[in-house]
Amino acid sequence: MKALVFTDRHFTVGSVDPRIYSGFIEHVGRAVYDGIYEPGHPTADADGFRKDVLELVRELKMPLTRYPGGNFVSGYNWKDGIGERSKRPVRPDPAWSAIEPNQVGVDEFVRWCASAESAPLMAVNLGIGTPKEAGELVEYCNFPGGTQWSETRRANGSAEPFRIKTWCLGNEMDGPWQIGAKPADEYGRTALEAAKIMKWIDPEIELVVCGSSSGDLPTFAAWDATVLEHTFDKVDYLSLHAYFGDVNNDLADYFASPDRMSDRIDELAATCDYVSAHKKSKKRINLAFDEWNIWFHSNSSSAQAKRWIVGRPILEELYTLADAVVVGGLLITLLRHADRVKIACLAQTVNVLAPIMTRPGGGTWKQTTYYPFYYTSRYGRGEVLRCAVSVPSQRCNNWPKPVEMLHSTVVWRREENEMVFFAMNRSLEEPMEFSLALQGFPVKEVIEAVEISGDPTAVNTEEHEAVVPKFRDPAEFMLSAGSVSGVLPPISWSMIRIRLNQ
Ligand code: AHR
Repeated sequence: MKALVFTDRHFTVGSVDPRIYSGFIEHVGRAVYDGIYEPGHPTADADGFRKDVLELVRELKMPLTRYPGGNFVSGYNWKDGIGERSKRPVRPDPAWSAIEPNQVGVDEFVRWCASAESAPLMAVNLGIGTPKEAGELVEYCNFPGGTQWSETRRANGSAEPFRIKTWCLGNEMDGPWQIGAKPADEYGRTALEAAKIMKWIDPEIELVVCGSSSGDLPTFAAWDATVLEHTFDKVDYLSLHAYFGDVNNDLADYFASPDRMSDRIDELAATCDYVSAHKKSKKRINLAFDEWNIWFHSNSSSAQAKRWIVGRPILEELYTLADAVVVGGLLITLLRHADRVKIACLAQTVNVLAPIMTRPGGGTWKQTTYYPFYYTSRYGRGEVLRCAVSVPSQRCNNWPKPVEMLHSTVVWRREENEMVFFAMNRSLEEPMEFSLALQGFPVKEVIEAVEISGDPTAVNTEEHEAVVPKFRDPAEFMLSAGSVSGVLPPISWSMIRIRLNQ
């Protein structure tokens, strides 16, 4: 199979906002307890956070980490998680049928973020929480001092405000599974009132309002339009969530996931623009894809996990090589929408739907999906070029559109004088002979070529990392003054870094 990819230095999609490489730590499963936090662990720091986990998180270069949920936040009282740890309440968490000991709260999480070289993307409870409590959390975190909650923060050891910039106005408020789920009008009104208080307390903050948590809900897009009609003047981003999976045991269909994500982005960007048009405003609401990942392997083991314990082992996906190829493809989709998606959170980061796994008292290991995220986060920063692609398409069973067999994008790292080609070969059998034309770019050499390919069912465990990146010999690629060509194996994700002449 052959693919021609044309780019030109004058035609760009937009600059990558590095926040599309953000992560997510929720109080769910073993993400916090026995994940990032394990006070008895040999690598634990003064707060009880595992330094070996922190090291792996730092490698992923996640600018933001969403916290504390997720579904958890909609029943959470942030005041339970501050002050003397031994005095904090132990509560049942109805969202995940678990026990929440509140040993990690906002102060500890802010310190974890500093160690992880990340920043909090803080969610407030608009399920059963109130706009008043949301404002008090902003006061606790960001108000310099002299008020009840800012002085409480100071008394708890943080003289300086946390200066948390970006906040989520609740979580998945359209979902019937959500604690305190609301119809769009009711949520829109509540979110507006919370937003007013939060921005009055700290005018520097920016806000993400809940959009549709799934394209399958009957309220999809209508929900978003209604919520934005209420909150338009006060919010900066609309949130969207999507999880993908090989639910039909049909790889060709599964490999259409990046296209499904792409359509979701286009549909909600159009919804944002509809509301702008309706309001006769030039304000542009951008998108925060603040939960995305693969989620389908762990459904039955989660259902069987013991309930009402701390750190229930739920949502522990064991990712395959095919999943890593799809995650690489989903990252390509996010890049291709660099003009509109400004924040995206891989959901999640540790143990729960995660690239990083831990064993209590033991080691850590990297899931297959760690690698495409690692490389895209490192090298997918710069300007995304428009690509015109000529490649065969195929039909699959559960997606109505033709699927191009090559899913790719090109990022220009102007300061590094480098082009980075990210590519997913979706063919299940055929190698892809590609030719990448870089019009206006003087190609010098291939710096590095990394590939994930092989048995699509292979997985990584603590004992054996079966799926690791393969480093290809740069000599396998042919260069001319303005192009690079080579072969991508079937079922593969690749990153090829190309140095330009000065
Ligand atoms: O990431 C796991 C869960 O998925 C989150 O808590 C929720 O927001 C979503 O449904």
